[in-house]
Parts: sequence; structure tokens; C-alpha cells
Amino acid sequence: MLAGCGGVQSALQPAGQEAETVLRLFLGMLAGACVIWVAVFGTAVYAMRVSPQPHREQTAKRFIFWGGIVFPVVTLAGLLTFGIALMPELRAHGGGLRVAVSGEQWWWRVTYEPSGGEAPVVSANELRLPVGERVELMLDSPDVIHSLWIPALGGKLDMIPGRTTRLVLEPTRTGTFRGVCAEFCGESHALMAFPVVVMDRAGFDAWIEARREPARADAADAAGERLFLQAGCGGCHSVRGTEARGVIGPDLTHVGSRLSLGAGILPNDRSSLIRFIRNVEAIKPGALMPSFAMLPDAEVAAIARYLEGLE
Ligand code: CUA
Repeated sequence: MLAGCGGVQSALQPAGQEAETVLRLFLGMLAGACVIWVAVFGTAVYAMRVSPQPHREQTAKRFIFWGGIVFPVVTLAGLLTFGIALMPELRAHGGGLRVAVSGEQWWWRVTYEPSGGEAPVVSANELRLPVGERVELMLDSPDVIHSLWIPALGGKLDMIPGRTTRLVLEPTRTGTFRGVCAEFCGESHALMAFPVVVMDRAGFDAWIEARREPARADAADAAGERLFLQAGCGGCHSVRGTEARGVIGPDLTHVGSRLSLGAGILPNDRSSLIRFIRNVEAIKPGALMPSFAMLPDAEVAAIARYLEGLE
């Protein structure tokens, strides 16, 4: 059980302001629950072992009044006040950077919208944030309800079709964490995660500038690019700088530099790319992408090599 208290996906090791507030609330509630648990069991033991004989009716009535009415009202009012007092911190307004995150079936569309008026940067299945700054996540979904949850950074929030919900996070330390979908959304709900990388500001700026560039596959991968386009991949995926301009699936412009594949479920290497292209149905049941098992091995390998090189 204790192994669940740490790691990249733990709400008990907060790396964000909001997560710290949530942890404070949890610890306060936990302490209250422990005290009440001890009191209730102490009373039960007292009644069964220490003083099992019948009590006078007046004593019983007094016990019910104090223990059954006054105590819960006072305790619950105290815990409620404690919880409500923390709420303004959780609903604070955002900062400079906005990131639109859309829950798709079953991956994440991520669009960075810098405050300086620069063009948005489209990515997928990975979130990068600058440390020590408030970031406003604008959440929505085109079809079903998802819920975005990065336990180390903050509480979860639903992504509701037709409505934009806002989650404000302020990471307090750098590192790599993990986010998940916390609302059942279909067959591959459990296969919908993403790495969250908190970087210092300079590192974040350099990263986003690099994402602005079109894809730069080296000349040796021209054949892979041609096969990628011939197989029709560009109908669903975008690779900026090429003819691939699809918007149905994840943007693949810099897919080679991502920390994982398939929304946080596979290591990003060539063999995973090959498996994904050949048999996506086995890896992500119900995904919209068709499997390309009919392509010759050499062609799949060439496409995988091309994608791997898109850094
Ligand atoms: Cu998306 Cu569960």
C-alpha cells in the first residue's frame, strides 16, 4: 500500500500549488476521521467490555444528545469551514500561458497559446509547463466526457463536450510527472495517459520555439515520408512542413521527441512505432486509426524510421 504514496502519479508528493492545497485538505479530513474513528470504537469497547450493564434512561438520552447531535454538527461544521476556506486558492485566476487540452478518443490534443500574441503551437499526448508560473488549462472534448487529472499538480476536472472548463495549475518544482484520464470514456479509457514535464522558463521557451519549427526529417528519410503520404496517413495526421495536414489524429510534427507513444502507454522507439502502425487495434482497442497490417514490413519500418526522426 505504501508503494502507492510516491512516484510520478502521486497526490501525496505534490509538485504544484493546487496539489498542496488538496493534500492539506486531505490530511485535515484524515486527521478528523481518525479522531472520530477512535472515539466511536472507544465508545463501543466501553459499552461492550468496560460497562456492559444497562444505563439509566436519562444518561442514554444525554449521550445521544451530545454524541449523536451536538458532536456531528460541530465536527462537520468545522471540517466544512476548513474545506471552504481552502477553496479560493483552488479557483484562482490564470496567468500568462494558456494551454487548450482536448480529450479525444483516446488521446490528448494539446495547443499552447502563449500570451505574447504568437501563433499557437499544436502538440499531443504530452504537457510541458514552466515551473513557478500559473498556467490556465482550457479543457474540452469533441464527443464524450473525459477528466484530466495530474495528481502531483492538482485536482481533476471534467472535460465536457460543448463547454470549456478551466483548470489553473502552478507547478512548484521541475520534474516529470504523469497525468491520466479519470472518467470512464470508452474501451481504451485506461490507455489514456500522458507525461507532464515541468521545466525552468528558459528550457520551456527553447522547447516551445523548437516546436514552432516545421518537421525536419533528414534526407535519408525522404522515402519514409513518401510512404507515409502514400499510405494516406496525412488524411488524419499533420506533419507541418509536408503535405500531411489531417486534424483527426494527433499532430506528428515532432513525434520523435515525445517521451511516450500512444498517449503515455508505449516507450517512444522504433519497435513501438512499428507495432502501433501494424496493429493499433491490439494496442488501443476502439481507436479510430485503422491497422496497417497490409503494408509490407519494409514499408512499415521505413515509415516508423521517418516518424522516429521527426524530432
Ligand atoms: Cu478519457 Cu477516460
